[in-house]
Amino acid sequence: MSADFPRSLLMTGGCGFIGSNFVRFWLSRFPLSTVVVYDLLTYAGRRENLGELWGHPQLHFVLGDITDLERVRQTCHEYAIDLIVNFAAETHVDQSIARPLVFTETNVRGTHVLLEVARELGIRLHQVSTDEVYGHVPEPQQRSEDDALWPRSPYAASKAAADQLAQAYFITYGLAVTTTRGSNTVGPYQHPEKAVPLFSTNALLGQQLPIYGDGLQQRDYVHVHDHCAGIEAVLLRGTAGEIYNVGTGQDITNLEMVDVILGTLGKDRCLIEHVTDRPGHDRRYSLNVSKLHALGWAAQYTCQQAIAETARWYAGHAEWWQPIRNGTFRQYYQEHYGQRLPDTDL
Ligand code: DAU
Repeated sequence: MSADFPRSLLMTGGCGFIGSNFVRFWLSRFPLSTVVVYDLLTYAGRRENLGELWGHPQLHFVLGDITDLERVRQTCHEYAIDLIVNFAAETHVDQSIARPLVFTETNVRGTHVLLEVARELGIRLHQVSTDEVYGHVPEPQQRSEDDALWPRSPYAASKAAADQLAQAYFITYGLAVTTTRGSNTVGPYQHPEKAVPLFSTNALLGQQLPIYGDGLQQRDYVHVHDHCAGIEAVLLRGTAGEIYNVGTGQDITNLEMVDVILGTLGKDRCLIEHVTDRPGHDRRYSLNVSKLHALGWAAQYTCQQAIAETARWYAGHAEWWQPIRNGTFRQYYQEHYGQRLPDTDL
C-alpha cells in the first residue's frame, strides 16, 4: 500500500444497500485495510446486509448517528480513520415527499457534521451522491458534473445541499473531498421500497406492480457492483475537489424495466397496474459518464443485465426480503399504495 492509500475507513451507512455492498467489495479487494461501519440501523440499514462479513477480523461496527458530532469524532480517533466514505442517507423519494424533515436532518446536517470532523482531523471524505441533483433531463441531453443542479424533490434537494457543502469545504478549507453521483442502483440487499426490488418481490408473490403514471419515465439502472467499482476508482485515482458521475450512460423506461423483471421471473404482464403518479415525478435522468471512464472505469452490466441479475437475486433470497415485507414495511405499503391499489394486501 502506498503512503496515501486509505488504511482505516469509516463507512457511514455501511449496513445500507450501497454501503453494505461497498463494504463487501472493499474487503474483498483490500482485506488488510480496516473498515469501520458506522450505522444507525434505521429501517433500510440492516445487520443482515453484511451477512457473512460479521466476524471478519478487519471489520468493526459502531452504532451511531451521523448527526452526532461527538460520536463521529470519537470513532474516528479510536480507529485512526484516514478516510470517511459517506453512504449514510435517507434515500427514498416517496418517503421524502411524505416526511421531508428527516431528509434535511440526515442528508444535510449529517453530511455537514462529517465534513466538520474531517476538517478538524485533516482527513479525506468521499460523498456518495445521486444523479437526482440534476433534476429532469430533457431528451437527448445528458448531464455532466459541472452542469447546474435543479433538484425537484425534498430528497434530491437535500442531496444537492450536501454536495454543495462538500464543495464549499474543498474551496474554503482545502479539505480533500471527492463526490460521486450515481444513477439508479440495483442489486442485492436493496430495500423493497425501491422500484426494482418492489416489482420483483410483488411479481414473486403474484401481486400487482404499481407503475406510476404512464410508466414512460426513463432511468439509468447501474448494477451496485459497477457502482462500487466506480467509487473505488475515485478513491484510488480521483482528484480532490472533483465530482464524478456513475452510471451506464444508457437509460430505459420504467415499462422496459418491468418487462425485464417479468421476463426474468417468468411472470405475466397482466400484473402491471398503472396507478396515480408520484408528485413532481422526474421524467428522465441521463448521465454523461466520460469523466469516470477517464479513470479507467467502465460498467460491466447493461441496464437490462443489472435488472435481470437483481430480479434473480430476489427470487433466490426470500429469506432476506420476507421479514422486511412482513415488518413495518407493511404499514408503509398500505399507507402509500392503499389508495392507488384498492385491493392492496401484502
Ligand atoms: O437516480 C438515483 C436515485 O435513484 C437514488 O438517488 C435514489 O435513492 C433512488 O431511490 C432512485 O430514485 P428513483 O425515484 O428514480 O427510484 P425508485 O426506485 O423509487 O423509482 C424508479 C422509477 O420507478 C421512478 O421513475 C419511479 C417509478 N416507480 C417507483 C415506485 C417505488 C413506480 O412507477 N412505482 C413505484 O411503486
